[in-house]
Amino acid sequence: MEKESEIRKQILQKVVELYNVRKQDKKFIPGKTRIHYSGRVFDEKEMVAVINSALDFWLTLGKEGRKFINEFTKYMGIKYGVVTNSGSSANLIALSTLCSSNIENPIKPGDEVITTAMTFPTTFNPIIQNNLIPVVIDIEEGTYNIDASKIENAISNKTKAIIFAHTLGNPAEMDNIMEVAKKYNLYVIEDTCDALDSRYDNQLCGTFGDFSTYSFYAAHHMTMGEGGAVLTNNLNLYKQALSIRDWGRACYCQTGEPNPNGACGKRFKHKYENLPYGYDHKYVYSNIGYNLKPLDIQCAIGIEQLKKLPIFTQKRKHNFNILYNFFKKYEDKFILPITLPKADPSWFAFPLTIRKNAGFTRREFVTYLEENMIETRMLFTGNILKHPAYKNINYRIVHKLDNTNNILTNTFFLGVYPALTDEMLQYIIEVVDRFMVNIIT
Ligand SMILES: Cc1ncc(COP(=O)(O)O)c(C=O)c1O
Repeated sequence: MEKESEIRKQILQKVVELYNVRKQDKKFIPGKTRIHYSGRVFDEKEMVAVINSALDFWLTLGKEGRKFINEFTKYMGIKYGVVTNSGSSANLIALSTLCSSNIENPIKPGDEVITTAMTFPTTFNPIIQNNLIPVVIDIEEGTYNIDASKIENAISNKTKAIIFAHTLGNPAEMDNIMEVAKKYNLYVIEDTCDALDSRYDNQLCGTFGDFSTYSFYAAHHMTMGEGGAVLTNNLNLYKQALSIRDWGRACYCQTGEPNPNGACGKRFKHKYENLPYGYDHKYVYSNIGYNLKPLDIQCAIGIEQLKKLPIFTQKRKHNFNILYNFFKKYEDKFILPITLPKADPSWFAFPLTIRKNAGFTRREFVTYLEENMIETRMLFTGNILKHPAYKNINYRIVHKLDNTNNILTNTFFLGVYPALTDEMLQYIIEVVDRFMVNIIT
């Protein structure tokens, strides 16, 4: 045992050494070093955590996963959480849970879910995957969020839920959304994959609806490589979400649960209609489930990243403000990001929409930036209904999607992630100024 811990100590010391050697090699050279729109931000602590967990060789989900979800739910102030292998899985679990026959008022095949067409595909896909009908409404110019004022008009007697993202970290109009949801008894899923640590009315995004979902992919506010979570304050929704993540089994033990009698305390004492008395609760299936678990080594990284989240948030805000203050002088060329009075965003990125008479197109502008080593991205699908996979789906549109279609053609984003330094942002500013001089002269 002593020998093992000595070897482990030496390995972990070497990991720190390796991290320090790599760090020395990093230097920003303007025009030569690519400025990424996002990426993982870590130090030796994450590297030590992942190697330490790998040395345990537990391989699947276990104690690191339990620790992570306890700390994450505590941070969010939400009672229950299920850690997943991605944000996409978290969305799939959340909506599938609301369709489970084990909840009081399940959504049924053919029912409708309100959402937006400017979306990330896996915010939208669970609607189709659960045989539900998306009711698509437009988004607001500048906030890039669901147009809350249009929700009520889109509701029919088949409408059962709203699923939307706080786009790029910008909090949606939660007062209106929750008011309409309450009035019509609709479930609300907040896709908070890009909005971890954003607040609306001093309340964390993700804490308003029935479910909130998170992504810990490398590009997000914090990472575990790939990973995600789905949170809820409702005990039964939590139990069904856990079941759907874990093959659909009835048992709500955490993976690796040390208690031989299970979390329920009566693993061999249940009676189900068509199963023999005492059939192992762990092998009883009460949902049509999946296996969407992450590994413990991912969660070990997540534990370290969560400690850094407040600093990451500060840096995201700082970087956003630098770009915002700069782009203000080009407001005649670009629609700048808009936030609601109650919103306090932890920005995922810096979105810009090129105005009609700007004198250049998005394609020209982003090509120029990319040629100058500045990464850009489109605002996800732009309009998901225009993508090949969706041409035969059933959906309903209530209003015209003018803003959505404008985004499809004219919007892109730059990064604000914590690894961007003031020097890099200054370089972006100079490159944009050069472009504008050429346009104006
Ligand atoms: C709003 C939104 N929802 C869901 C996802 C899916 O997350 P993941 O990549 O972890 O599956 C993303 C991914 O970037 C996203 O931006």
